[in-house]
Amino acid sequence: MRTLVFATNNKHKLHEVSEILRDSVLIKSLSDIGLEGDIPETAATLQGNALQKAQWVWERTHTDCFADDTGLEVEALNGAPGVYSARYAGEHCSFDDNINKLLTALDGCANRRACFRTVICLIEHGVPRYFEGRVDGVILTERYGTDGFGYDPVFMPDRFAVSFAEMPLDVKNMISHRGIAVKKLVDYIMGRDTRISN
Ligand code: IMP
Repeated sequence: MRTLVFATNNKHKLHEVSEILRDSVLIKSLSDIGLEGDIPETAATLQGNALQKAQWVWERTHTDCFADDTGLEVEALNGAPGVYSARYAGEHCSFDDNINKLLTALDGCANRRACFRTVICLIEHGVPRYFEGRVDGVILTERYGTDGFGYDPVFMPDRFAVSFAEMPLDVKNMISHRGIAVKKLVDYIMGRDTRISN
C-alpha cells in the first residue's frame, strides 16, 4: 500500500483523513516520522497555505506528503473568516472563541449562507498537485452537537437537518469539504486524475 505523510499537527484532521484513506493509503503523521515543530501557514490563500505546509515536510524529509488548508467562507461577511478561520478571534484563540465571534458577527443577520472549502496539496517527488472540496450550508444561531471540531457545532450542511457536530464521522466524511478533496486525492493516486491544476 502507498505511504504518504500528512503534514498536520491537528489530531482531529488526522483521524478524519486516516478513516477516509483507510483502504487505499497508509498515512503517517508527523510524530510517526519524528518531525516536530510548528508548520508555518502564512500565505494569503488556501492553496498557498496547503503548499507551504506540504513543502515544509518535503524539504525536511524528501518523502511524498500532503497538507490541507480549510476556510469557512461566510457570505454576509464577504467570505470571512476564510483563510484566517483558525485565528478568527485572535492569535491563540480556541474553537469556542471563534464560534462566539462568528455568532456575534451574524447576530440578527438573515443571510447565514456559508461554505467550507478545503485545498489539498500533494507533493510527489517534489512536484505539487492540488485537489479541492467544498460544502455549502448555513451558520446556525447556536451550537448543536459535541462531535467534530472547529466550527462544526454551528455549521449545518445543505440537505441535512443537523450540524456537522451531530453527525457520525462517516457521514461527515461522505459530504464534507475535506472528504470531497481527499476523495479526489484518492482518485488521483488510484489513477483517476481529478486535479484542479498543476
Ligand atoms: P486549517 O487551517 O485547515 O487547519 O483550518 C482552519 C480552521 O478552520 C480550523 O482551525 C478550524 O477552526 C476550521 N475548520 C477546518 N476544518 C473544519 C471542519 O471540518 N469543521 C469545522 N471547522 C473546520
